[in-house]
Order: sequence, then structure tokens, then C-alpha cells
Amino acid sequence: MKKILFVASECVPFIKTGGLADVVGSLPKCFNKEEYDVRVILPKYMCMKEEWKNKMNYLNHFYMDLAWRSQYVGILEMQYEGVQFYFIDNEYYFSGSKPYGNIFQDIEKFAFFSKAALSALPVIGFQPDIVHCHDWQTGLIPVYLKDKFHEGDFFRSMKSVITIHNLKFQGVWDMKTVRDITGLPIYYFAPDKLEAYGDANYLKGGIVYADAVTTVSDTYAEEIKTPFYGERLDGLMRARANCLSGIVNGIDYDEYNPETDTLIEKNYNIKNFRKEKIKNKRALQRDLGLEQDDRKFMIGIVSRLTDQKGFDLINYMMDEMCQLDIQLVVLGTGEERYENMFRHYAWKYQGKVSANIYYSEAMSHKVYAACDAFLMPSLFEPCGLSQLMSLRYGTVPIVRETGGLKDTVQPYNEYESTGTGFSFANYNAHEMLNTIKYAMSIFYDKRREWNKLIDRGMAADFSWSTSAKKYEELYQRL
Ligand code: ADP
Ligand code: GLC
Repeated sequence: MKKILFVASECVPFIKTGGLADVVGSLPKCFNKEEYDVRVILPKYMCMKEEWKNKMNYLNHFYMDLAWRSQYVGILEMQYEGVQFYFIDNEYYFSGSKPYGNIFQDIEKFAFFSKAALSALPVIGFQPDIVHCHDWQTGLIPVYLKDKFHEGDFFRSMKSVITIHNLKFQGVWDMKTVRDITGLPIYYFAPDKLEAYGDANYLKGGIVYADAVTTVSDTYAEEIKTPFYGERLDGLMRARANCLSGIVNGIDYDEYNPETDTLIEKNYNIKNFRKEKIKNKRALQRDLGLEQDDRKFMIGIVSRLTDQKGFDLINYMMDEMCQLDIQLVVLGTGEERYENMFRHYAWKYQGKVSANIYYSEAMSHKVYAACDAFLMPSLFEPCGLSQLMSLRYGTVPIVRETGGLKDTVQPYNEYESTGTGFSFANYNAHEMLNTIKYAMSIFYDKRREWNKLIDRGMAADFSWSTSAKKYEELYQRL
């Protein structure tokens, strides 16, 4: 039996800000239970719903040194859907209304969390073969494992994996402060270790010291070796190319299933979507005050509102787009300029554009189920889960060919009648608009072809089955 510990800063259903939480919440369930004991350790944030906090059981506590500080580490636990979860409790670090706050606080928060997660293991009595870290928040773990922890028998043979979900976020702060916070010796603060461009960089530390590095699609694994996508670490990614691989994300096929989803108006499946899916569109048009018309080409967006997602292209084309026979439903929160941009267009094009500037699991399912197409023109996209959810709900993705979008959406080929969506290559607003227009022409003039696109998308398998096996192979190799 191989023992694996996932360490992450978010995880559904406990706490979520983006796709990382979906991955950490759904992947551990998908390993072969006979051969893998996969457990997960998370911070216990005060902002978690009471519903979850009430279900956690107190296990133990101790005090841990973090340089000159001595900090309380509480350990709570919970079994959920067959997976053992642990939560690190410390009210000083994990208070606040969101998991992440300003970077300075986060830098100390996740140094604490990373060290506490390791220090808790002997107390819990769980000795993983592999610690699987996710993103910069856990980047110090491979470093700590090679440092002090290495001296103890308990940790000596422990291997580590780090998965990069988004290279843009690296956890960067000045070296002096980070030395003071982490208690790591000066030796680590060199350009071949934790240092990058004069600052300390948590993610870099993880990438340098982990035994294997993965990211969430093949294309992104290649892209990050180039300056455009490399976020100033492309040299490091090239240097680590031998240890770097891409494993594409899956989604939870029970959670995202149009046949059983209780959050949507009308359930449907690959056989009856032609008749039933439209009922979701009608309901959403009604609920959002959009024009009640089956023939409008309804485009959905469910997203964090950041420049990563290509909203500059949409902004540039919005007036032209709204001259077409479309409806646009947006669900998202994030940067104020994009929130206000969509609010503005919703005001300008009433009945046509609906801006839902909030976070809602239920509404996201309704959008995936109701729309004809899903727009994701990302500037970069490590994997992307929204397009997978759309495919599952028979909503045709229109994407830019980058990262996981390129690997998961097969472009429509009208001559061979293949493909599951529409895509364009360059980060160019006119290319995007042309692709939308092309999709609309199939929707309006070749409905049978459109339905076959849906058929192929719904039949595609983006559950975790294939990718979980690839992680298993990686664990075996280490
Ligand atoms: P990222 O991780 O970069 O945000 P992904 O496509 O991997 O992008 O994952 C985004 C996840 O967050 C999806 O599960 C999507 O449905 C969800 N999501 C994003 N914004 C919202 C929102 N406003 N309300 C509900 N769910 C959202
Ligand atoms: C990040 C990426 C997204 C990916 C998600 C889960 O948030 O932006 O593309 O799907 O992590 O891996």
C-alpha cells in the first residue's frame, strides 16, 4: 500500500476560490483504494462554512517553532466520501473572510501551514511515502523536507511532488523577511535554490527541491518553458524539464452530471438533450430577465474575472458582438474593472447581457446547463475546468488554443465531422469574434451538425479515470 499525502490551500467542498479546489477535492477519491491510501491536509480557515467546521473532530495539538516564534498547531480530522482529511488549526493565521489576503500575510501563513503540515504527521501517526504539494502555498514543503526534517528517520525517505496549477502565482517576498519567517538557513537563499531575481520565491523552492514536478496539461508543460508563459521561471522549467510532466485535469463526474444534477431546472442526457436541454435555457432566460427566445445563441461565461481569462478581447468586441443574435450570461467575481465592464454592458444591452457578479455554485450549474456555447478566450490556461464542465453539459466550448484548452477541446472540422468545440490560435479579438460567428453559423444553419458536436462533447471522457492512473504511475516511479 502506497501512502500519499495531498497538501493544499483549498479543496471542495470545504473551501474554494478556483479550479485548484476542484482538483484537490475530486482527485483523491479516484485512486485505486486497494493500492493507495491518499489523505489530504488543509488549513482550517475561519471562513469555512459552519456546516463543515461542526463536522471536524479534534485530534491533537502541539506547539511548533517557526524561527523565533512558537505557534499553536491544532489538528482536526474528518472522513468525507471515503477520504481522510486533516485540518491545521491556528486562529491567528487562518482568520479573515477569505483564504487569501494580502501577500505579506499569506507568505507567513503558508510558511506556517507548510511546516505545520509536516510536523503534524508524527503526531497523527501517518507516514506518507510521497507528499504531493499544490501551488506556491505549499512550495516550502519540498524545501523543509530536504532541510531539518531530513535529519529525522520519520521523514528521511519521504519523496515530494509539486503540481503547478498556475505559474503566475509564486509567493514572492524579500529574502530577509522570508528568512526570518521560515527559519531556513541562508544557504537556501541563493539563485539555484529559493532565490529568484533578488527575492525569495516559494514556488521556485518547491520546483527546485521536489522529486517530480507536474502541471495540469501537456501543452502548459511545454508553454512554461518559453518566456511568454514562463512567468520569469522559464529557465528553471527548462532546467527541470526531465522531472516535469503534464497530467491533464479531470472533473468530478458525479458532481457534474446533467442527468442527476439537482441544481438545474431539467435533467437530461446524451440521448434526450435535443428535447430537454432547452428547458434549462428557457428557465435561465426567465430568471435573469433575458428575452424569452429559444433561437437566441446563448453564450455563457463562468470565471474568475482576471486578465488571465481573456476579458480584454471580449471588452474590445462587445459592442460588435451585441449586434449579433446572441445572449451573454456572465457569472464571476474578481478584478473591479471587469466586474464593472460586465455591469456596464448589462445596463447597455438589457435583455441581451446578464451580469451576475457573485459566486454561486448553483448558478454555475445552471449556466453550464442552459447555454448553447461557453466562451473561454484565455490569455493562458494551465488546464481549465469550466470547458470540461461545459462539454459534460452539452454546452459547446469556444476557446483559445492555449494550455489545457488546446488539449481538451477538439476543434470542429466540418469536412470530417469531428471535434467538440471551436477554437482560435492567436490572442486577437477579431479572431475570437470570427470564431464566435462561425459557431453561430453552424448553430443556425446546420443544426444537425451542431447536435453532433454536442453528442461528441458529451461522450468525451474527462472524468479522472485516465489521469488518476498517470499520477499512480508517477508515484510508482518515485
Ligand atoms: P481557475 O482555476 O483558473 O479559476 P478553472 O476553469 O480551472 O479556472 O476552474 C474554475 C472553477 O471555479 C470552476 O469550477 C468554475 O465553475 C468555478 N467558478 C468560477 N467562478 C465562479 C462563480 N462566480 N460562481 C461559481 N463558480 C465559479
Ligand atoms: C488554476 C488554473 C486552471 C486550472 C486550475 C486547476 O487555477 O488557472 O487553468 O484548471 O488551476 O488545476
